Amino acid sequence: MEYINIYHGVRMCGIIGYTGKKNARSIIIPALKRLEYRGYDSAGIAVINDEIQLYKMKGELEHLERILPKLEGNIGIGHTRWATHGQPIKKNAHPFLDCKKKTALVHNGIIENYMELKEELMKEGHVFTSETDTEVLVHLIEKYYKGNLEDAVRKALKDVQGSYAIVVIHLGNKKEIVAARNESPLILGVGDDENFVASDIPAILEHTDKVIYMMNREIATLTEDNIKITTLDGKEITREWERVDWSLEDAEKGGYEHFMLKEIFEQPSAIHRTLLGRILDMDETNFLKIHFDSIKIIACGTSYHAGLIGKYLFERIAKVPTTAEMSSEYRHSSPSFENPLVILISQSGETADTLGAAREAKHRGYRTIAVTNVVGSSITREVDEVIYTRAGPEIGVAATKSFITQLVALYIIAINLGLAKKTLTYDNAKHIKEGLRSLPRYAQSVLDNADMIKEVAKNICHAKDIFFIGRNIGFPTALEGALKLKEISYIHAEGYPAGELKHGPLALLTKETPVIAIAVKDHTYQKMLSNIGEVAARGSPTIAVGYESDEDLRKYVDSVIYVPTIENLFAPIPISIALQLLAYYVAKERNCPIDKPRNLAKSVTVE
Ligand code: F6R
Repeated sequence: MEYINIYHGVRMCGIIGYTGKKNARSIIIPALKRLEYRGYDSAGIAVINDEIQLYKMKGELEHLERILPKLEGNIGIGHTRWATHGQPIKKNAHPFLDCKKKTALVHNGIIENYMELKEELMKEGHVFTSETDTEVLVHLIEKYYKGNLEDAVRKALKDVQGSYAIVVIHLGNKKEIVAARNESPLILGVGDDENFVASDIPAILEHTDKVIYMMNREIATLTEDNIKITTLDGKEITREWERVDWSLEDAEKGGYEHFMLKEIFEQPSAIHRTLLGRILDMDETNFLKIHFDSIKIIACGTSYHAGLIGKYLFERIAKVPTTAEMSSEYRHSSPSFENPLVILISQSGETADTLGAAREAKHRGYRTIAVTNVVGSSITREVDEVIYTRAGPEIGVAATKSFITQLVALYIIAINLGLAKKTLTYDNAKHIKEGLRSLPRYAQSVLDNADMIKEVAKNICHAKDIFFIGRNIGFPTALEGALKLKEISYIHAEGYPAGELKHGPLALLTKETPVIAIAVKDHTYQKMLSNIGEVAARGSPTIAVGYESDEDLRKYVDSVIYVPTIENLFAPIPISIALQLLAYYVAKERNCPIDKPRNLAKSVTVE
C-alpha cells in the first residue's frame, strides 16, 4: 500500500533503550516518566542479565514501579503504551518476547499486514500471547535470527507493511541494541560510554543533549561506545549528532510554545495514521451491512460539530437520512420512529453526557458505534462496535487533531456505507479515497501558511464579538471555528448559517464586529457572496476563508485566509485547520492560558 512518506511527527507510545555501564533500570524508569505525557495505559521494561528480565503492568507507570524488583543489567528497553490495537491490559503491554524468551522488543506504530503474518508464523509453530499487531515483529526476528540481531531485524522488516519505531535486544548479543524506524519517531542519544534510543528527546535530555535523528527505513545498531546507522537495504550512513538546547518543558512540547500548537502541527501525521490500513478495506465497518433506516450521530462540543459534518457526508455519499444531536439533549428526547444506527463520537470516551446517551440508545434497542481516540475508554465498553481515530494523546484542552481525525474516520465510514448501500460506484469510491490520501498534504500546506493567519489574528484580536458564517458543509465548520476561538481567546464568538443572519443577528453587527465567512466554492457560493455584501453594508470588517484559486474573493472582503483548493467535500479539513491557527494566534495576542482555558476540563465527566 502506498502512503505519503513525509510525516515524521507520529507520536503515540513512548519508547526507550539504553546500553552503557549504568544500571539500565535506573535510566529506563525515569525516562518512561518523561514520556508519560504522550499518554499511557500500560508500561513495561526488559533488562538483559543471564536471562531477559521482563516486567509489565496495566495502568500508569507507578503500577509498574510498585512491582518492579531491583534489576541487575546494563542494557534494556522500556515502553509506555498508548493503545491503537488490543485492549490496554497487561498481556498487550510491551516489551514482547519471542517463543524462546531470547528476544525482547518494543514498538510504536501500526503493522498493517499483521494478520497475514501472524497466521503464517502460527503455522510455523510460533505461539502468540497478545492481541497486538506488534507481537508479529518479535516472532519474525526470532525466525530470522542466526546469531546477528541486525540482520534478523533487517529481514523481519522487509516482511512488514506499516509504521514502526522499534527497539530490540537479544540474549545472544548482550551488548547490543538494534533500533529501526519508519513513519514513527525515533532518536538516538549520544553519551560517554553509553548510548540511548528513544521516541522523543525528553526521555534522554537529562543524560545527553547530543542527538541523532533517525530517518525512515533506517536501522541503528548501538553498543555503549558505537552507533552504526544503515538503510534497510544495508547501505551505511554517516550522520553527525546535533546539540539540542531545549529545556525539558520545551522538549515535551516538541519545541512548540503550547501543546495546542504542537497538536495543530501534528495533524498531517495524525490524519495519515487514521487512514493507515483503512483505505483499501476497513473490516471495522462490517456493521454497516446490517439493516437500519437512518443514522443518528450523538456527541458534545467539538465532537458534535464533527457529527454535523458527518451528517452531510452520510447523506451526500450514502444517501442515508442522518441527524446529529447533542448528547445532553438526546438523553431526554423521545425514541425514534424508525430503526437508527447510532454513532457516538467522543475524543476522550469519558464524557458523561455521551456515555449516558450511549446507554439510552442501547436501552432503546439500537445498534451503537463509538468513534473515539482512547482505546479502552469507558465508551468502548458501552457500545457494540468501536472505531479508533488514532490521533494520539491530546493534551491541550481545545480539541484540534482529535476533531480532524474524527472527520477522517467519518469520511471512511461514509465511503464504506456508500459502497454497502450501493449509492457509490466503485470508481466514485476510488476517487474519494484518492482525495483522502491527499489530505495530509493539504493539511500541511495550511500549516505552511501559518504566518499569513497570524497577521489576520493581529487585526481581530481586540474585538469583543466575532461572527463566523457558513452555508452547507461550511456551516458546521463555522460553528467549530467559533467554538475554538471563544474557548481559548475568551472573545464572544458565534457560528451562524449565513442565510440566518438577516433573521436576527444582523442587529448585533457594528464596525467593531468582524465577520468571518467560510466561502466554499459549492452551489451556495454566490449566496455567500451576497451575505458578505449584507455584512459589509453594515460596516463590519469582513474576512473570508476560501480557496487559493479563488482570486476574486479578495474583491468582496477586507482580507482573505487562503487555503489550498480542494474538493468541496473535503473543505472542512483545511478550513478548520486554518481556523484553529486563527484562534490560537488570537489567544496568544491576548496572552490567554491557551492549553488550559479557565473553567474548562479536557474531559467532562459530570452531566
Ligand atoms: C472543545 C472541546 C470540547 C469537547 C467536548 C467533548 O475544543 O474540546 O467541546 O469536544 O467536551 O469531549 P469528547 O470528545 O472527549 O467527548
